[in-house]
Amino acid sequence: MLIRHRPDIPTSAITPPAVYGGRRDFLRALALGAGAAGCGLLGAGHAASGERTRFASVVPGPFSVSDEKPTPYSSVTEYGNFYEFGPDKDSPQRNAYRLRTRPWTVSVDGEVRAPKTFAIDDILKWAPLEERVYRMRCVEGWSAVIPWVGFPLNELIRRCDVTGNAKFVEFWSLADPEQMPYVRLPVLDWPYVEALRLDEAMHPLALLGLGMYGEHMPKQNGAPLRVVVPWKYGFKGAKSIVRVRFVERQPPTVWTRTAPDEYGFYSNVNPDVPHKRWSQSHERRLGEFFKRKTLPFNGYADQVAGLYAGMDLRRNF
Ligand code: MTE
Repeated sequence: MLIRHRPDIPTSAITPPAVYGGRRDFLRALALGAGAAGCGLLGAGHAASGERTRFASVVPGPFSVSDEKPTPYSSVTEYGNFYEFGPDKDSPQRNAYRLRTRPWTVSVDGEVRAPKTFAIDDILKWAPLEERVYRMRCVEGWSAVIPWVGFPLNELIRRCDVTGNAKFVEFWSLADPEQMPYVRLPVLDWPYVEALRLDEAMHPLALLGLGMYGEHMPKQNGAPLRVVVPWKYGFKGAKSIVRVRFVERQPPTVWTRTAPDEYGFYSNVNPDVPHKRWSQSHERRLGEFFKRKTLPFNGYADQVAGLYAGMDLRRNF
């Protein structure tokens, strides 16, 4: 079934070298009898990663795509990247059942007046849950139209009481080897940390994602909460976040640490700036056959281009 949704770019052509390296390390670990299978690393054949629970109330939010149907739920939940659960596109949906999403807290530190910790069940009550149907574009060339559920990320940031020094915000994903088997392996330089400039994170288009398709977030898509930044390549949206840290200087991220010449800090969707190893001019929607042109800022230029006025977007890719 996955093959049906798989774009025709072979994974071998698009997987970042570090991830490839990780796969090699993983295979080497297996060959050396490092006990991976014994630890259950090979997956227990779980097809789904948890119960599907609908939200009681979700209101329509702004910025939704109105001229396209959402990508089928199965495509979005069965094909994706969540390297903590493995290097393949179906690893997340096979292995994310291990993730425990309660209790769950998000700690806040760095350039804030006082560090604090929020519990997910409180976060869920902070603001009306909105449905926002966003175009999403992966750096690897596939894309989707996803009806997210959440509220503006700026709602979270407002509650963090940041100091005047805060210029950037980091989002840290959980990195628990007990729940996320591939965190034991050097697939990436764990934990998965992504970051935004503070004004990007405050932009009303940036979403704190709490669910999709009217339901709580599936584990493989980043339960119980993640970042959704639709004008940037998908890797900027850290999944299953447990820590938010405000900093003064542009921080390294998991991808700029891994391959700085391939993944820039900004990573705005830009059809005119090719990735080092492939073009970014076109994309394929999951489940579709024909490619379509990629739009600057993924079609959200009217909303966000002003954030980058005066910047050279080739250098700041
Ligand atoms: N967040 C974490 N913690 N780990 C990951 O491997 N992958 C990123 C991003 N967030 C990733 C992550 C990448 S490369 C993409 S394309 C999107 O998640 C995919 O999200 P989706 O599966 O919900 O489409």
